[in-house]
Amino acid sequence: MTAHKNKVDVRAFRSALGTFATGITVVTACTADGRRVGLTVNSFNSVSLEPPLVVWSLARSLPFAADFENCEYYAINVLAEDQQDLSQHFASRLEDKFSGLGFSEGLGGAPLLEGCCARFECRNTVRHPGGDHVVFISEVERFERSERAPLIYHGGAYRRLA
Ligand SMILES: Cc1cc2nc3c(=O)[nH]c(=O)nc-3n(C[C@H](O)[C@H](O)[C@H](O)COP(=O)(O)O)c2cc1C
Repeated sequence: MTAHKNKVDVRAFRSALGTFATGITVVTACTADGRRVGLTVNSFNSVSLEPPLVVWSLARSLPFAADFENCEYYAINVLAEDQQDLSQHFASRLEDKFSGLGFSEGLGGAPLLEGCCARFECRNTVRHPGGDHVVFISEVERFERSERAPLIYHGGAYRRLA
């Protein structure tokens, strides 16, 4: 095992973090002036059952970061194993990420994507500074799940459950 101390080597740090396997989500919101925003996120995790709280973090450098900070609700769409293209789509710089996609509107107009494993509709309650990210902790007001298998992310690559 290689030890890394003091000033962090960002590439080595990212690589070490990549050993932690996660699912993939797309977090979506609708702004007060009716624009839909969304991005691929794997920093999602559970926090509390009672009350039902979840956490994710957002890079402050993203052009739409303020839209998420200011929205009342957002939706966390957990991607299924056949939605790798959707993950790439929402990780790309596109003018309108929702054009031609199948979705319905959830609380606050946040887009609920079709074909997901689970969808959590969250009130945008608590935000903490977290270095170059903002950490969002939110209360889940509604959720639903399907029996679809999840998309997995590990070591910088998409994977499926064996
Ligand atoms: C697998 C994966 C996971 C990601 N997780 C996060 C995350 O947790 N937080 C974040 O701010 N960006 C994350 N990103 C990057 C954003 O999705 C990406 O920077 C954003 O969609 C770019 O949007 P823009 O090009 O419209 O500015 C992730 C990207 C990928 C491919």
